[in-house]
Amino acid sequence: MSNKSDVRKITTNTLQKMKENGEKISMLTAYDFSLARIVDSAGVEVILVGDSASNVIAGHETTLPITLDQMIYHGASVVRGTSRALIVVDLPFGSYQGNSREALNSAIRIMKETGAHAVKLEGGSEIIDSVERIISAGIPVMGHLGLTPQSIYKFGTYTVRAKEKMEAEKLISDAKLLEKAGCFSIVFEKIPSKLAKEVTGELSIPTIGIGAGPDVDGQVLVLHDLLGITHEFNPRFLRRYLNLHDQISNAISEYVSDVKSSNFPNESESYD
Ligand code: KIV
Repeated sequence: MSNKSDVRKITTNTLQKMKENGEKISMLTAYDFSLARIVDSAGVEVILVGDSASNVIAGHETTLPITLDQMIYHGASVVRGTSRALIVVDLPFGSYQGNSREALNSAIRIMKETGAHAVKLEGGSEIIDSVERIISAGIPVMGHLGLTPQSIYKFGTYTVRAKEKMEAEKLISDAKLLEKAGCFSIVFEKIPSKLAKEVTGELSIPTIGIGAGPDVDGQVLVLHDLLGITHEFNPRFLRRYLNLHDQISNAISEYVSDVKSSNFPNESESYD
């Protein structure tokens, strides 16, 4: 029988070696114990406790409302369900943009109160002081460039980022800045494939894409999108592997009908 400590764990070094060996990295979100357990045992290397929990778990329109306490609740639940994957928790909007001291305090709370292994922050030069301060405290940081949903009201749209030369140049310089600051990896969200390929070639740390084409070092999706629970969200980059929305809905309709017709429970589902 194996227990948690027998399993070879994924570390930031594992991801670096995977890049060096040309082995692709798989990353998925999870927000709770039960699904984290499935995601982990299915072999995903990185579990992201994304602030997309604000959308898919809490039903908010954006990622802005989710709080640090709520991220910690989700993070700790995922950690309890995970044996092997590296767990990264998003620093939520408002917990790191103010100043680097606040950013460090938020990152420390996540590490202490969840047991996760790393944090993710959105942005480049604007937040570099915070990134450096968190890393200097020994906390691994994943960057996030391109479409950064916490800044949605600045951009006003979820369209592809960095199509224009100036924005593409800023993305490349931000990526290099984050690498120099010591980030162990960077997520690129919704940027042209050609740009993602170019910057991946220029960085020595692994890049993870979502809507960034095939030429990055790994891919990430929101679990609820991949499983087809969020069936009304249909960006071009999304590949749905299941239609759980319909399967769950059909199962629940059948249950309702069985209850109403007294078909559930039957004798074998009842006690003498
Ligand atoms: O919060 C999230 O799920 C994310 C991914 C989309 C990368 O940041």
